[in-house]
Amino acid sequence: MWWLVRKGYYRSYHTILKYLIRLLPFPVPTLLVGPGGIGRLADEIRQKGHRRLLVVTDRALVAIGLLDGLLTALQEAGLTVVLFDQVQPNPSIANVEQGRTLYLTQRCDGIVAFGGGSPIDCAKVIGARVSNRYRSVRGMKGLFKVWRSIPPLYCVPTTAGTGSETTVAAVISDPDRHEKFAINDLHLVPKVAVLDPEVMAGLPPALTATTGMDALTHAVEAYIGIIGNRFTNREAEQAVRLIAANLPEAYHNGANLEARTNMALASFAAGSAFTRAYIGYVHALAHAMGGLYGVPHGLANAVILPSVLDFCRPAVEAKLACLARAAGLAADQIGEEALSYRFIAWVRELNQAMGIPACIPELREADIPLIVSRALREAHPAYPVPLIMTPSQCEGIVRGFLCPP
Ligand SMILES: [Fe+2]
Repeated sequence: MWWLVRKGYYRSYHTILKYLIRLLPFPVPTLLVGPGGIGRLADEIRQKGHRRLLVVTDRALVAIGLLDGLLTALQEAGLTVVLFDQVQPNPSIANVEQGRTLYLTQRCDGIVAFGGGSPIDCAKVIGARVSNRYRSVRGMKGLFKVWRSIPPLYCVPTTAGTGSETTVAAVISDPDRHEKFAINDLHLVPKVAVLDPEVMAGLPPALTATTGMDALTHAVEAYIGIIGNRFTNREAEQAVRLIAANLPEAYHNGANLEARTNMALASFAAGSAFTRAYIGYVHALAHAMGGLYGVPHGLANAVILPSVLDFCRPAVEAKLACLARAAGLAADQIGEEALSYRFIAWVRELNQAMGIPACIPELREADIPLIVSRALREAHPAYPVPLIMTPSQCEGIVRGFLCPP
């Protein structure tokens, strides 16, 4: 009885969320796609009249020289660069405040984020703090608490996976409280996203694999969730189509710029889907294990995705069959049930072919109750999952990630 009441509450919440999201005017970033995108970005910024740019990135990217092309292009366009390369792998509140101080003292008038999800998320919140001076980073946690528009934000993702270049979200760490939290607001959507395969060509295969599987997880969770619409379904199917056709090639031959461009487009499409239709249990479990053990986000998603799909398959058979068709797995005439199984098997094969394990070596049996409680607290009622999981079902799934002794 108690469980039925809870489920009723979750589903009422999801219904409200579904209609609310339909009403929201999600901004869409302007896309600059293909080799040479960075040069076109510099022209775009100059035409918009911005002159002093805070470039937000991390030291590792500066050290390997990946930023050189961007800095040269901006300087050749007559723009002044103020470099902030202190972003940590999990950007903290202190990181944001450092960047904000630099932006204000150097009188910048725009922000360029260059890197993976961390610099992009950090840049979003630096922008939010610049224009919302009386709101703390923690005070913006949750939904719609960034009241004023942020300065113009230009994004150059160097991985194809997070989709942060098109989403309303930014994840920030609070080391004092040992937690990560998300800030979600329409104001955080960047103005321009540059999908330039040349900055992704050197990404190591293991990172190509795990970030690509993060994008796949975004597409799948947005698609099988219950608040998607025609737009999000189309974007998710397109992402799955592109990932199936390009991730193995990008993994094996990173210099293939066409495969890199298509993976960047897949990540963008998946981001467009999940920022509107949200995510599910795979992310909830990945966040719990990422918080406890530091398991990289994409890797955790890749390992967890097939097991969560096994759990909810009966409720989403037709949807998984559609994704199987998008992935090119339906050459023969087989029914939806068989196609849904085939899609899940394909995800497992994709993991295996890219050296992604089926278990999580850091996982300790004693931590399972904590992981279950954190994941379900995150997922309920926020995530519009197709099938609601009980704690014991969740425990059974997590137990499956223990590596054999
Ligand atoms: Fe993700």
